[in-house]
Amino acid sequence: MKAVMAVTGLILVAFLLMHMFGNLKLLLNDGGVEFNAYANILQNLFYPVLPHMFFLWCFRILLTAAVVLHIWSAVKLADRRHRNVGSKRYTTRRYMEQSYAARTMLWGGIIIVLFVIMHLLQFTAQVLKFGYKTGSKLDPYHAVLAGFSQWWVVLIYFVSMVAVCVHISHGFYSAFTTLGANTSPKARSVLLILSWIVAALLFVGFMLPPFLILFGVIG
Ligand code: HEM
Repeated sequence: MKAVMAVTGLILVAFLLMHMFGNLKLLLNDGGVEFNAYANILQNLFYPVLPHMFFLWCFRILLTAAVVLHIWSAVKLADRRHRNVGSKRYTTRRYMEQSYAARTMLWGGIIIVLFVIMHLLQFTAQVLKFGYKTGSKLDPYHAVLAGFSQWWVVLIYFVSMVAVCVHISHGFYSAFTTLGANTSPKARSVLLILSWIVAALLFVGFMLPPFLILFGVIG
């Protein structure tokens, strides 16, 4: 169960790093040429060998499977931990430390799920039209510009990115521990530093475009 959680978590971190680097194309400030081209390439990857959108849908199915398995293993582990309360294996201090980390991960996870639902409705389905009112869909670049020219949208993203990065800084370390990499005090320090680097990189990389758009540097 823990291995499922670790592997799916690392798949999701890989997706986030890719997504964050893709978003940094916004910094080119070229009127969205590169950013829209990148969104287009994802839709047409391996076309015409594969049908239009085929690769993107395979990718979406893989991502959804990873999210479902990640949440499922988290629920199973939380249930097991709950049933172990009072068992002789747990000292009070250890139980308190574990339950604090578990509670932080649980609440962070809930905020992330709510954020992803909002995010997909905003950018993929464009049902939530933040910052514009037209009936038709905007291209990804203009939808991003419209959204992040609203301070409250940037605030929602800021809070969500804090949740994503706190979740990842703990999850990344935990995943590698589960997979057997935490073998010595030195390995522990390296893992701790790496997990903070990945979380900080994601935070800065994701939040840079929204702030630059809000302050009129991009667009
Ligand atoms: C400021 C940060 C972010 C920006 C500007 C952003 C921007 C976008 C845009 C424009 C799309 C739509 C692409 C298209 O339809 O062509 C998208 C899709 C998506 N984003 Fe984000 N994103 C951000 C953060 C995140 C985070 C933190 C997550 C996950 C926790 C995430 C998960 C997704 C997913 C799952 C999709 C759907 C991909 C697909 O089309 O299958 N995004 N994002």
